[in-house]
Amino acid sequence: MKLSVIGCGYLGAVHAAAMASIGHEVVGIDVDESKIASLSQGEAPFFEPGLPEILSDGIASGRLSFTTDMAQADGAEVHFIGVGTPQQKDGYAADMTYVNAAIDALIPHLQPGDIVAGKSTVPVGTAAGLAERLASTGATLVWNPEFLREGFAVKDTVDPDRLVAGVPLGDEGARAADILREVYHPAVAKGTPFIVTDYATAELVKVAANAFLATKISFINAMAEIAEVTGADVTQLADAIGHDARIGRRFLGAGIGFGGGCLPKDIRAFTARAEELGRGESVGFLREVDAINLRRRERAVQLVVDALHGDMFKKNITVLGAAFKPHSDDIRDSPALDVAVRLRGLGAWVTVTDPEALHNAARVHPQLNYVEDRDEALRGADAVIVVTEWDEYRGGLDPEHAAQLVAGRVIVDGRNCLDAAAWRAAGWTYYGMGRP
Ligand code: UDX
Repeated sequence: MKLSVIGCGYLGAVHAAAMASIGHEVVGIDVDESKIASLSQGEAPFFEPGLPEILSDGIASGRLSFTTDMAQADGAEVHFIGVGTPQQKDGYAADMTYVNAAIDALIPHLQPGDIVAGKSTVPVGTAAGLAERLASTGATLVWNPEFLREGFAVKDTVDPDRLVAGVPLGDEGARAADILREVYHPAVAKGTPFIVTDYATAELVKVAANAFLATKISFINAMAEIAEVTGADVTQLADAIGHDARIGRRFLGAGIGFGGGCLPKDIRAFTARAEELGRGESVGFLREVDAINLRRRERAVQLVVDALHGDMFKKNITVLGAAFKPHSDDIRDSPALDVAVRLRGLGAWVTVTDPEALHNAARVHPQLNYVEDRDEALRGADAVIVVTEWDEYRGGLDPEHAAQLVAGRVIVDGRNCLDAAAWRAAGWTYYGMGRP
């Protein structure tokens, strides 16, 4: 099939390359010329495992191209909208500027029977409004939310755990759903659940899923707060409740909490939208979820301050990690970097290392000291804090070896990812999050 993908950020670039990898002819369109230039050469503008390979394969096969020219969308059967919906600068709601601009630019190039498939995360009710705007073109709007995780984005796109299509009523909707089934043919053929809904349900599925995941993380972080005043161990607690299949152990990792380009902004936009709909109280708990999440960053900072007996002046602190999670160079709303900046604000000398995210971090926070080599970063540290659980810092860092590099054997495990006993045995004072 011939497809266009409008917006070549995280979602769009991965979607375009993944669709080409399953045999479609795809054009990716974006207004950012430098992004298009690098994608056209097969270079991913961000770190995502597996993406460079499918980008260069797609381009070499002739099935994948990138352009800033919207006219290249002419003739595509399905047009995916994958532009960003960031948090507004002066509020919690989603900024819809890019979605509206993409639709405006696309309309002149649509033919009757075309499918416009929205993938951006939008406030519920958006699709119904966009469908009205598209009515005169004869194109059909479907809402097809994306659930990809950074670090696993290629796998999640080609082989998702479910597909959701919000469609209009009647034959038009049934035809649109069939076309989407054809787009995702390998996943559909292997029996991946394909759930056809109305627009509002499809829009809500996305924000509800992210709200649930954020709530699960903040739940265990709230238990960590209780563990801290009772002497309990939240990691054992998570293991024990996680054995209950109804609860499950995943996303019960207590630590400095969630960040990234999705969970924080999506729960805030959901709260804002619910308030607009007169149902603010229904998701009022999400404010608490947000507050718990932010408190954990403060807690991690406090552990470092306490470990150094309140004296941060001229202390060397090494921060292991900057990305919001491992296998990513994304620093959007990164708890890791937030902790580093707060420590610096208290007067410490802060050295940050990360396998992938340093260039992004240095651009936004030039006041921190960035060192690429992990061991070099550890040299002379008075305290070390792990804030992103890269393999190089968990199993990959030997406490005996690290002890030879630092000035003071203080380790704060902001992700509860280290073997506390092994670190203590090597002479370190170990502090976890919600662990005795
Ligand atoms: C998330 C959703 O998982 C994905 O389905 C959606 O499409 C986009 O948002 P992503 O932002 O890539 O994906 O990251 P995710 O793996 O969900 O992690 C989010 C944050 O939660 C990270 O900062 C991570 O460190 C944190 N986290 C995750 C925890 O603090 N504890 C956990 O147990 C799990």
